[in-house]
Amino acid sequence: MADAQGNPVVVTGCAGFIGAQVCNRLLAEGREVIGVDNLNEAYDVTLKRWRLAQVTDRPGFRFYPADVTDLEMLDRVLEPHRNRVSAVINLAARAGVRYSVVNPWVYYQTNVTGTLNLLEWCRRNGVGKFVLASSSSLYGASQELPYREDQRTDQPLSPYAASKKAAESLCYSYHHLHGLDVSVFRYFTVYGPAGRPDMLPFRLVQWISEGHPVVVYGDGTQSRDFTYVDDIARGTVAGLAPLGYEIINLGSDAPVTVAEMIRLVEEKLGKRANIRYEPSHPADVRSTWADINVAAQLLGWEPETPIEVGLANTVAWYLREQDWARSIATA
Ligand code: UGA
Repeated sequence: MADAQGNPVVVTGCAGFIGAQVCNRLLAEGREVIGVDNLNEAYDVTLKRWRLAQVTDRPGFRFYPADVTDLEMLDRVLEPHRNRVSAVINLAARAGVRYSVVNPWVYYQTNVTGTLNLLEWCRRNGVGKFVLASSSSLYGASQELPYREDQRTDQPLSPYAASKKAAESLCYSYHHLHGLDVSVFRYFTVYGPAGRPDMLPFRLVQWISEGHPVVVYGDGTQSRDFTYVDDIARGTVAGLAPLGYEIINLGSDAPVTVAEMIRLVEEKLGKRANIRYEPSHPADVRSTWADINVAAQLLGWEPETPIEVGLANTVAWYLREQDWARSIATA
């Protein structure tokens, strides 16, 4: 490992869905973690605070409220750790596909300027390893399934996907110019306990539990390679290994349609969904499915959590936390 000397890892977006799980995993491995998050209101902050509370008192964890779009602020808060950090895992992002059509600017600020600031911070402070969260949505309208990392990604269907493409490209430039070692992960629709409330799995569990109408964009035949958050966190931490510059899909390799997801959640909750169909969204890709050979070859990574198990955990979490989770805003 590049960071075998035990120096701390910076995790941005540490109160985020994937960020908090990555922190948990690093801490469980005895690593020191410097968490950065601006706790913005992209979605219900209660959820971010809940996730942060799960890691905040653990030995080895330090939290700094800071915004990756502000390089001076980053410099200031990370000053005590300069020259000690072994890697930056950049999981701070604006991440919803559909809202990026409404406000593309915030996506560019966080996903592009934020990534650039962190790359610069790495360069100035001698950090040798960078991990970037990217997205399966980059594959756009590509018809060739499963998606391979070397497929075309120059026709993104949303400003969100375009912003992630830009972030990937910046990482390559910093690798080329400054020798930064970079692992770019293209995550495939991540789900699990304390997931993002703008995404389908969280919404289904809350909406069906509480008897709210379930909004489906299109006819429900679109599919996603839904991937469990623990598998994603395990892959992301494995990506700290020195690789040069690599783009790596992390997906389940087992796509499920939206209609099938609804059926599975209905089954787990023992309740029927009241479905309301709306037109399909032009920023949505039709299907996703990951070719995961690169992850297997480079990292020995494979998904371990079948959808049945992952959804059961997601539903169990919701039922445990229902007193407050029922009020989390989903729009
Ligand atoms: C998700 C994440 O939001 C992105 O951050 C991530 O980069 C992306 O996966 C990825 O894999 O790359 P998305 O696939 O749109 O994006 O995930 P969901 O919001 O869970 O939507 C999945 C499907 O359910 C889409 O077809 C969407 O139209 C549909 N959906 C979603 C509904 O029918 N109703 C809803 O209320 C929400």
